[in-house]
Amino acid sequence: MDVVERVLVSKEQLDKQVEELGARISKDYQGQELVIIGVLKGGFIFLADLARKITIPVDLDFMSVSSYGNSSKSSGVVKIIKDVDTNITGKHVLIVEDIIDTGLTLNHLVELLKTRGPLSVKVCAALDKPSRRKVDLKVDYKGIEIPDEFVIGYGLDYAGKYRNIAEVCVLKREVYTKK
Ligand code: PRP
Ligand code: MN
Ligand code: MG
Repeated sequence: MDVVERVLVSKEQLDKQVEELGARISKDYQGQELVIIGVLKGGFIFLADLARKITIPVDLDFMSVSSYGNSSKSSGVVKIIKDVDTNITGKHVLIVEDIIDTGLTLNHLVELLKTRGPLSVKVCAALDKPSRRKVDLKVDYKGIEIPDEFVIGYGLDYAGKYRNIAEVCVLKREVYTKK
């Protein structure tokens, strides 16, 4: 697409990472009650890929939250648009995200879900931008580390668009800076 500056993470790299994470998760949660919670909207593509690399029975559910809206900066306020329907009390929970930036979204979700009596709450993210972290967050299943660039694709949007690009791409600067 013409808004793409360059490809940062290829489909091959993503597939390899997803396979590794799926295998680790399947092994670690073998014989346990696991609820996987995908964080919409961004997490939907990664979760769809990851879920099919997980070889144990799991419950899948979704939460819809937003902190960025149409801006390129996190507002720091995490708005819950849709909660899970699944009762997570006495179960292991794994939250699946596309990216960790400041860490505010996941930090908020972990704390919220912990109040519901789960056996454990862990996090898995396809991408990580550690240079932007604002809170100390333990990332149990970490995907690919990326530099501080505005990225789109593989679920990640700019103003709601470009989630459907297969690779993780750098957005052209002129798209998000006012001329
Ligand atoms: C993005 C991304 C993560 C979060 C990461 O979601 O998908 O959920 O921000 O940022 P943080 O670590 O600084 O909190 P966004 O709020 O844009 O909603 P979306 O997934 O619907 O695009
Ligand atoms: Mn998101
Ligand atoms: Mg977004």
